Amino acid sequence: MLPDTLRSRLRLPLIAAPMFLVSGPALVTAACRSGVIGSFPTANCRTVEELDGWLVGMADDLKRAADETGHAPAPLCPNLIVHRSNPRVPDDLAAVLRAKVELVITSVGSPEPVLKPLKDSGCLVLADVASVRHAEKAVAAGVDGLVLLTAGAGGQTGWVNPFAFVRAVRAFWDGIVVMAGGMADGQAVAAAETLGCDLAYMGTKFIATRESLAKDGYKQMLVRSRLDDVLLTRAFTGLETNMLRPSIAAAGLDPDNLPVRGAIDIAKDINAAERDKPDAKRWKDIWSAGHSVSGVSDVPSVAELIERTEAEYRAARQGV
Ligand SMILES: Cc1cc2nc3c(=O)[nH]c(=O)nc-3n(C[C@H](O)[C@H](O)[C@H](O)COP(=O)(O)O)c2cc1C
Repeated sequence: MLPDTLRSRLRLPLIAAPMFLVSGPALVTAACRSGVIGSFPTANCRTVEELDGWLVGMADDLKRAADETGHAPAPLCPNLIVHRSNPRVPDDLAAVLRAKVELVITSVGSPEPVLKPLKDSGCLVLADVASVRHAEKAVAAGVDGLVLLTAGAGGQTGWVNPFAFVRAVRAFWDGIVVMAGGMADGQAVAAAETLGCDLAYMGTKFIATRESLAKDGYKQMLVRSRLDDVLLTRAFTGLETNMLRPSIAAAGLDPDNLPVRGAIDIAKDINAAERDKPDAKRWKDIWSAGHSVSGVSDVPSVAELIERTEAEYRAARQGV
């Protein structure tokens, strides 16, 4: 269950999901100001100094929001990509601890190496998991919450059916549960709650907002794309990832005949020099989306998207 002190600051049971090269300070603080938890991968900063700057700047912005409105905004939530191939984990962890954040999400690996210092600092830790076995391991390690990566999620996805996954986890865990994948509108958020989740992740829909760091071409492709345009492939990241077929075709590749990439290598993905190489197309020019792309029809501001989602959510709850 969500602590009351946190739930009372949320307008919706929602997290603007962390997205590589998409979530930056403008998106995160706009979400928090609108009462939705705003998350971002620390890997979006090229250096730990930049991360320190982002964290201080966002905290200042949210303090200003609290002073202006008289109530606390939703918390911001850094995401540590804890895969063993990410060399930045210790430095990014230290920056997150310096910033005294309330909430952290770990992904693409075991939360264990970062759990104790985060818990000792009083921070809630949510771990993303894609199987019941990983959920059990994260619970045994002492996390506060689980983000269940389900089939159809954007980015590196899960493959488990959300209905079965939530109920299987609820059979042994009464801590925080977040559903990731397939949140195309507020009705879906209400459905996740009915199923037993405390929160839902919304990723793809936040890519197509004015504040996201995504290129305009990416946002417009999301508007034009349908669910059937999402391709599940290991070709670009080494892990099963949902990608947009039209972006693969635009890069001169055949979506139906892609080579399989070897092992996942986070260091290569986040290395600033590698990112700037003209041939470093994945994430930059070959774009990801979840099945929830079906709910993208325009490029609103973050506040507008949250307002609409809240109206859909309230309408769905009234029908319950
Ligand atoms: C472009 C893109 C980048 C992503 N990058 C990350 C990331 O850096 N860390 C992470 O934990 N999840 C990442 N994700 C996964 C999202 O946090 C979330 O699980 C997913 O978007 C939820 O599904 P939806 O897009 O259908 O809402 C990414 C997703 C997308 C679409």
